[in-house]
Amino acid sequence: MAARSGTMRAVQYDRYGGGAQGLKHAEVPIPSPNKGEVLIRMEATSINPVDWKFQKGVARPVMPRKFPFISGFDLAGEVVEVGAGVSDFKPGDKVIAINFPNGGGLAEYAVASASLTVPRPPKVSAAQGACLPIAAVTALRSLQTAGVSLDPDGTAAGRKNVLVTAASGGVGHFAVQLARLGGHRVTATCGARNLGLVVDQLGADEALDYGTPEGAGLRSPSGRKYDAVVHCAAAAGVPWSAFRRVLADAGTVVDITPGFAAGATAILQMVTFSKKRLVPLLVTPRKDEMELLVGMVKEGRLTAVIDSRYPLSRAQEGWARSMSGHATGKVVVEMGGEE
Ligand SMILES: NC(=O)c1ccc[n+]([C@@H]2O[C@H](COP(=O)([O-])OP(=O)(O)OC[C@H]3O[C@@H](n4cnc5c(N)ncnc54)[C@H](OP(=O)(O)O)[C@@H]3O)[C@@H](O)[C@H]2O)c1
Repeated sequence: MAARSGTMRAVQYDRYGGGAQGLKHAEVPIPSPNKGEVLIRMEATSINPVDWKFQKGVARPVMPRKFPFISGFDLAGEVVEVGAGVSDFKPGDKVIAINFPNGGGLAEYAVASASLTVPRPPKVSAAQGACLPIAAVTALRSLQTAGVSLDPDGTAAGRKNVLVTAASGGVGHFAVQLARLGGHRVTATCGARNLGLVVDQLGADEALDYGTPEGAGLRSPSGRKYDAVVHCAAAAGVPWSAFRRVLADAGTVVDITPGFAAGATAILQMVTFSKKRLVPLLVTPRKDEMELLVGMVKEGRLTAVIDSRYPLSRAQEGWARSMSGHATGKVVVEMGGEE
């Protein structure tokens, strides 16, 4: 297919640090899809903590691979061009995709591998679709890693007690919904303002305000011990001893923001054959996972709670909102909308 020419609007940063103010608007060349890639006219992207963590330099000097860097890993839009060898997609197809760690989503066009692109049915809006790749896939994989089946066998033994920390966040709000879809009993932690959302909208059985001693101690109001914990509360710094107290005999904690201590604990548990386990997890989304989640949104079984939406011209505000650590659900940046 003929190469597209011209330029596009993009939001990029050219050095480590600087936060939202380090983002600059620029007119840059529209990328061309290489072999196996699609070019997407962007409709929406969502901002994940990894966007601004890369900017802070957490993966320095490996990520970003070069400056200036256009962030935005979750892509939703319409295919306008396909690279050599792509037969699954054609111009006009609505899709979502993940382009990690290359990004590119904070722009009018972005490329993604066709192998990490999935069709987006009309019932799934671009904004909803853009929330799924990193956050919802991480929620799904965390539950599976902790042995929480989405397809339970209906027996009492298959029903788990699940704790989700930071259940109001991008990952946590999907984890609560997915665990409930699997028929599991869910305890969730969040701030006082989100207790209603977590129980009434997301379906948690019980919720704990992390600002209270019970919440900080992760203690279930009904006295449950947890078979599985999806630990999303990044800054909480929960020591293993706190989890151990509230875990069932063979309970598993999946830590999605593992630090050095989590790694050391996990190794120690492995060599001592501990039944209670901490599992550090870093997720790179797969196509089949995105397909599953898009299908759930299409069927109305899963919803992305959107904290706030910004046009590309105000992407810095979305970046700052995510950096605040107080988003409820996802932060979305939309292209082509009202400026
Ligand atoms: N391992 C991986 O592959 C992977 C993938 C995705 C994300 N992550 C990481 O996982 C973490 C969570 O991501 P996210 O997108 O869910 O973040 P997020 O959306 O920014 O989380 C914000 C939410 O967390 C709540 N929160 C903050 N501290 C809390 C605490 N101590 N207890 C309970 N709730 C708390 C906030 O509630 P209030 O506003 O009420 O404080 C807010 O609603 C991030 O560090 C991210 O980098 C890792």
